[in-house]
Amino acid sequence: MSAQETYENVEKSLQERGQSHLLAFWEQLDADRRLDLLAQIQRLDLTKIDQWMADLVKKPTFTPNCANFTPATSYSPDPAGPEQQGKYAKAIELGRELISTGKVAAFVVAGGQGIRLGFDGPKGNFHISPVRNRTLFQIFADSIAAVSRKYRTVCPWYVMTSRLNYDRTVEIFRSNDYYGLDEKNVFFFQQGTLPNLDPDGRILLADKNTIACSPDGHGGSLKALHQSGAIEDMKNRGVEFLSYFQVDNALINIFDPLFIGLHVLDNAEMSSKAVIKTRPKEKVGNFCLIDGKVNVIEYSDLPDELAERRNSDQSLVFQFGSIAIHIINRTFVERLNAGDFALPLHRAVKKIHHIDDQGNSVESDGIKLESFVFDALPLASNSVILQTRRSEEFAPTKNRTGVDSVETTRQMITNRAADWLEWAGVTVPRKSDGSVDCLLEIAPSFALEKEDIREKLSQIPEIKLGDSIYLA
Ligand code: UTP
Repeated sequence: MSAQETYENVEKSLQERGQSHLLAFWEQLDADRRLDLLAQIQRLDLTKIDQWMADLVKKPTFTPNCANFTPATSYSPDPAGPEQQGKYAKAIELGRELISTGKVAAFVVAGGQGIRLGFDGPKGNFHISPVRNRTLFQIFADSIAAVSRKYRTVCPWYVMTSRLNYDRTVEIFRSNDYYGLDEKNVFFFQQGTLPNLDPDGRILLADKNTIACSPDGHGGSLKALHQSGAIEDMKNRGVEFLSYFQVDNALINIFDPLFIGLHVLDNAEMSSKAVIKTRPKEKVGNFCLIDGKVNVIEYSDLPDELAERRNSDQSLVFQFGSIAIHIINRTFVERLNAGDFALPLHRAVKKIHHIDDQGNSVESDGIKLESFVFDALPLASNSVILQTRRSEEFAPTKNRTGVDSVETTRQMITNRAADWLEWAGVTVPRKSDGSVDCLLEIAPSFALEKEDIREKLSQIPEIKLGDSIYLA
């Protein structure tokens, strides 16, 4: 097809969908920029635009059919009764075996823009730990290295970035010598993008020959794993399970034998960890069952009446909040990608930089589209939920200050270290209100779980009021 014919086809297809403005500056572009713009438009799945318009622009409010919602059930953090004790013991043994035979890989989604944190660069490079000021990437890498040593195995690490932060992320790993990991075992890949829309559904231009796009959400990981060759790499290495986590959770326990073991014993394809919500409308996804399948319903989509509903013991009926920690089978990702699979898109109204009809740079409210990984849960043949303690595993760094912030994360790192030390019999100074009165940080090489501390008591100094202690 000649360049002119390609142009005419694209122009016709845009016209049919009310998107001809994408070619408004055509006459001002040189040949290379024209080709570049045409390629971007061809990469857009224009057939989907009508669907987006109908579902996300004209009818922006999602109304779930809550008549079908029933509360999800979960495994509790500690086994209830002898039968469950036996199952947990078996799960832990199986989980350890799977880790030590190299069947489990770490998988961090690090393609977000981290706008709320307001940090220049990939969020994983944010310095967060309270004593040594280690970055999030460093903390995860230390933990992967410690697990590899403990189990005498190789734990590969898959790192998903966006197109926007891929180069910076790879460069950060390189300049930090892969944080001591073997670079062969760290696999970077990029997620896809989706176009930004104005409130009327017109695709925005970032400049005269560039479509304004954003990363396609953490749900994009399930396609990107396949398209990037990460799944092929897993297959070659014999990896069967991905331990999925978010780049902003410094307390993540990446290789949890109990979680992995329960997931496998119950023949699950994708499983999740949950915490008990602190309040009915806490800003976390809610685990529900719909037609017997585990789903996560966003807090904003759960009607107040359901969110507030209580059991006779006053606990919330819909009490389990999602903390974005999953085990995902490699074969599940393969199965999804073998068919015509697409996760639903969600819309978010955000400030977007773009050019107006005159070509001037402006910033205005627009629509960003993204998919969420938890929307894959109902596609799984089975799905396990393991409840965990927030103080042990969930400290999201979303904001500079306030809720889910740098401050709260640093405090939670200290608090968890204090809990572990006290459990092992070490005295930790506390204020009269019970809060910890020192800064503490435990390196994964020192302890991956509280049980590891008992063997190292002789290496722990006396901890005094106001101390800053790093145990490594
Ligand atoms: P968030 O929803 O917190 O978004 O991502 P964010 O982009 O990091 O932060 P804000 O909203 O701009 O402040 C949760 C996790 O999902 C990843 C993020 O990197 C984070 O680990 N994510 C999010 C992606 O990998 N890709 C995306 O497109 C979106």
